[in-house]
Amino acid sequence: MFKDLWQQRVKLVEADLIKELRRTKSLDENLMRAMEYSLLAGGKRLRPILLMAAADAINGNGEKFITVADALEMIHTYSLIHDDLPAMDDDDYRRGKLTNHKVFGEAMALLAGDALLTLAFEVTLRQENVPHEILLTVLKEISTAAGAAGMVGGQVIDLHSEGVQIDLATLKLMHMGKTGALFKAAIRSGAILAQASEEKLNCLTRYAENFGLAFQITDDILDVTGDEKILGKPTGSDEKNRKSTYVSLTSPDEAKRLAKVAVDEALNSLENFGSEADFLRELVQYLIAREK
Ligand code: IPE
Ligand code: IPE
Ligand code: MG
Ligand code: MG
Ligand code: MG
Repeated sequence: MFKDLWQQRVKLVEADLIKELRRTKSLDENLMRAMEYSLLAGGKRLRPILLMAAADAINGNGEKFITVADALEMIHTYSLIHDDLPAMDDDDYRRGKLTNHKVFGEAMALLAGDALLTLAFEVTLRQENVPHEILLTVLKEISTAAGAAGMVGGQVIDLHSEGVQIDLATLKLMHMGKTGALFKAAIRSGAILAQASEEKLNCLTRYAENFGLAFQITDDILDVTGDEKILGKPTGSDEKNRKSTYVSLTSPDEAKRLAKVAVDEALNSLENFGSEADFLRELVQYLIAREK
């Protein structure tokens, strides 16, 4: 049931991403190919799925907001293209394929990332049947989360933490930024679009923060213990770049325990919800058992 709905929503998102790309007239065909290459390369599509699941938990209307959900996947994909560049993690594989810069070159990879990021905002404004005031609130959520106060800020802490000993509080801040911020924006945007009450929005925000933390801790663990073929990206990337991760600062077992604490906290935050939040419950539990 949970996996079926997930699969069904992945198909929906992928079909809609193609539709939104087709509506975009690029001045250069190769740029469009580079954008498509990474955007349609697969992936778990977690951020769009979370946006829809949060809206479902409020009023069961998740699929109505697919256009904003697409935008989140565009921002996420841009972040992956840039994260893999030689100036950053210097990785050769992503989503089971060569990284964008390996196929299109570094300059085009930078620009494809830029174009996906900006397209995300254009696409958000294509969302239909939502009052403008609500759409503006969502734009604020997403833009703040994607930038210096969120994902990009976290990526910078990540770079500064290479090869140096940082404390667990800084590590948590980094995770909350580079990974947590976009998950939080996804969940809060879904709830805001579905016109959640302040109280429910707060509960879902707590869920989101813990979801993001558990997710990135598991990403750190998988970088050490994962199977490259299943993951679709190289393992050992963090060690190669002397990254500060939950595994390098604690141990694989302690990292697993901390991920579980975050999952339990996420589940607790949903206690005022009924079966309408079951998908969110299952999804966060899947996180720590995942192999990719
Ligand atoms: C990978 O994200 C990058 C991180 C934020 C850790 P995902 O694991 O969601 O990547 P895809 O979208 O499934 O490829
Ligand atoms: C990157 O974290 C998070 C973002 C892209 C914002 P990682 O560098 O750990 O992600 P992977 O492991 O390469 O997917
Ligand atoms: Mg990185
Ligand atoms: Mg990386
Ligand atoms: Mg990683």
